[in-house]
Amino acid sequence: MKVAVVHGPNLRLLGRREPEVYGSDTLAEVNLMLSTLAAELDVELQIFQSNHEGELVDYIDDASREVDGFLINPGAFTHTSIALRDALTGVNRPFVEVHLSNTAGRERFRRHSYLSGVAAGVVYGFGVQSYLLGLRGLVARLGG
Ligand code: DQA
Repeated sequence: MKVAVVHGPNLRLLGRREPEVYGSDTLAEVNLMLSTLAAELDVELQIFQSNHEGELVDYIDDASREVDGFLINPGAFTHTSIALRDALTGVNRPFVEVHLSNTAGRERFRRHSYLSGVAAGVVYGFGVQSYLLGLRGLVARLGG
């Protein structure tokens, strides 16, 4: 089984970006935890980060030819991007949306997600654990 992990804008700043909101782990550390769990679950991971909406759309198309599903933290594009939603629905692969922070308890503009309605599931508010729980959920959904 293969899964693509997609990190949206500003997630490469993890570790130094508002640590009281997003925690102190760097993106490399998050990726290492995901890779360790993936090995345990016998899943192959591809990991991608971009600050650019079009690059994320292109990546989803390209990766969908090789992977069974997506684990995505769309960052701020969660709240703005119909293009990302269309990309994910268009490639016909299940995806799980994750967020480090509890977006429901923050600013009003973070409460709406263009992706949640078409996601296989959503995990938010648990810091790095959101990614790990999301990966477990996606793998279960894929039958692993
Ligand atoms: C985030 C929440 C978004 O609202 C924000 O724009 C991010 C990170 C999270 O992981 O909590 O960049 O997706």
